[in-house]
Amino acid sequence: MPCNYVLILFMLLASHVHAAPMELSPEQVRKDLGSAIREISVIEPHEQCGETNYIVTYVGIPLRILIEYYYPGEWTGFSGDIHLIARDGYLGIVEAGKMREKDAYLVFARADAKPFLVDNNQQGERDVPLGPFYLVWDNIGDPDLQKMCSYGWPYQVDRIQLVSDSIYAGLIPPGASPSAQAGFAAFKTYCLGCHHINGVGGRKVGAEMKLLVNGKTREDLRAWISDPQKVRPATTMPPLNRGLDNKERQRVIDQIIEFLGVL
Ligand code: HEC
Repeated sequence: MPCNYVLILFMLLASHVHAAPMELSPEQVRKDLGSAIREISVIEPHEQCGETNYIVTYVGIPLRILIEYYYPGEWTGFSGDIHLIARDGYLGIVEAGKMREKDAYLVFARADAKPFLVDNNQQGERDVPLGPFYLVWDNIGDPDLQKMCSYGWPYQVDRIQLVSDSIYAGLIPPGASPSAQAGFAAFKTYCLGCHHINGVGGRKVGAEMKLLVNGKTREDLRAWISDPQKVRPATTMPPLNRGLDNKERQRVIDQIIEFLGVL
């Protein structure tokens, strides 16, 4: 009999990687991890992509310390993604490998005590609330992080979840070409935060991706992804990362269109 209990306990622990998202509040983090709270200065990419002199200092906690504390068993050897779920439906996706290499912070205030807001100029939105949590990266002196612009900087985050890569398995049809597979990786970086396919991804946009691309030509998609405001001035969809140089940007757009073609 005790053997069964051990087995059930083991199954509960092992399945935690897919467990429900954990709710986070600054009050709880202050209580649990107060001594790890610090200030972090960053080039604020929502204000101006590619502009290196707009620096803001925030107050928060290294994401790695937070994950190690709340997921003590799972984090060791974990190779999937951290999902940061935002109140506005956005899904921040951080690969564990990237987090081990670069320093990310979950911040909850500005050090200068000004309101915790940002202008999101790529989306044409002003005074957007950042709380309860905003994920920022230590990008001063890191050109790779700077060229990612505001991608990977989710705000209004209130839940966190570790997910294994298997959740994406159904999104790439078997036998997809290498460029369609590369396209999925780019889609995950640049689109999945807002859009969802087969129930996986962000909920900023209600309609499923397959419906949105239905009936669109490659040229329609290229025009839309490169510069949505040119097609529909009032849209809040941002143009694909303007921090990339033009050649790389075109290559990424091609790969994404290739992936959308196999959906
Ligand atoms: C920050 C959120 C966000 C991101 C990131 C984003 N989108 Fe969108 N997308 C939207 C919104 C909002 C709409 C609804 C368009 C509107 O304003 O009517 C939309 C609409 C669309 C449409 C339908 C357009 C139409 O004519 O109705 C397509 C196709 C699309 N997105 C593709 C993409 C692709 C591909 C990417 C990645 C390169 C992407 N989106 C990234 C927010 C986003």
